[in-house]
Amino acid sequence: MPRTTDMASHAKDVLKRMKRSVLAFFLRIGLRRDAARAFRYDKAQFMAHAGALHLDRRAAARAEIVMGYHVLEKGLTMPHRRLGFGKGAALHMMNLIESFERRFGSDDPQVRHAVGVLRAYRELHRDRPEPMPRLDAFLAARPDIPAAHEPHVTREKFFAAKNASFPDFAASRHVCRHFEGTVPRETVEKAVAIATTAPSACNRQHARVHVIDDHALRDALFAVQGGTRGFGQDADKVLVVTADLSAIRWAWERHDSYVNGGIFVMNLCYALHYLGVAHCILHWSVLPAADRAAHNLLRIPPNEAIVQVIACGMPPEEFDVAASPRLAAPDILTWHGGGK
Ligand SMILES: Cc1cc2nc3c(=O)[nH]c(=O)nc-3n(C[C@H](O)[C@H](O)[C@H](O)COP(=O)(O)O)c2cc1C
Repeated sequence: MPRTTDMASHAKDVLKRMKRSVLAFFLRIGLRRDAARAFRYDKAQFMAHAGALHLDRRAAARAEIVMGYHVLEKGLTMPHRRLGFGKGAALHMMNLIESFERRFGSDDPQVRHAVGVLRAYRELHRDRPEPMPRLDAFLAARPDIPAAHEPHVTREKFFAAKNASFPDFAASRHVCRHFEGTVPRETVEKAVAIATTAPSACNRQHARVHVIDDHALRDALFAVQGGTRGFGQDADKVLVVTADLSAIRWAWERHDSYVNGGIFVMNLCYALHYLGVAHCILHWSVLPAADRAAHNLLRIPPNEAIVQVIACGMPPEEFDVAASPRLAAPDILTWHGGGK
């Protein structure tokens, strides 16, 4: 009698397992089909609208100028700045600005800021012996735009809004590319604990953090990343934020690792700023070979997508910060119901 019961429950188990694997088989087919469609849609949207392919559009042309002035702005604030830097970048900027003005006019605040950055760059090179006739003529043609000097701050001032209202605190957070000293392990742990308050889809908490405190590893990672020239060598710790793809359930969640990871990164940056740690967010906009290289280098499990890298250090007594002015809120705000 017990034998018959055993056999019946065994048969039930086998049936259940079969059902599960049939279900998994169809889920896999569905997911593969949906993912192929979704990624095709993303690719079509990307090819139709990515700025790189449409520099004739005003927004794309402006983004190119912003990127260009940011290179100079960064150069103006770098810790190991050497005069004479950025000649190629300045020339490129002038060409872009002239082309923009011819096509779209000269009243765009971001483009005017770009001219201001060029004037600040010229003023910094005031006492240099070599002439800059092209830049001088360019600036003389735009006499109403003043130099956009980068803010010089003390450590105390930079972190003064730590306990202020949220708008003041948010406005005070900036990336800082000046690092000295060691960020204590407990401070990193505190920052990550604060960052875990970030929301995530269905509270699935995709984000993971890898801390690189070995400087040889840091340098190897930065060689792959490519965005830390002039300051990366001073970073004490590097936080690599990843998102665990295991938390993704459907093809339509294909962007969720970056969305959830990005929200976590912002929270982490606020936490670092609150704790008085200088940080610089670093892109992870890389092609697959670099992504694979970083996974191997840092032994990051393959199920984790690298979302962002953050260089950290303690700030010096005084330093320069890139102004990085923002678009005005009305320029990025669209009401879809009359704006009541
Ligand atoms: C996604 C992302 C990628 C970035 N990549 C780099 C980078 O590779 N190198 C760098 O020096 N700064 C990088 N930054 C910092 C930005 O230049 C900076 O956040 C921006 O100019 C705004 O300035 P703020 O953060 O000081 O307000 C990055 C920022 C973000 C959000």
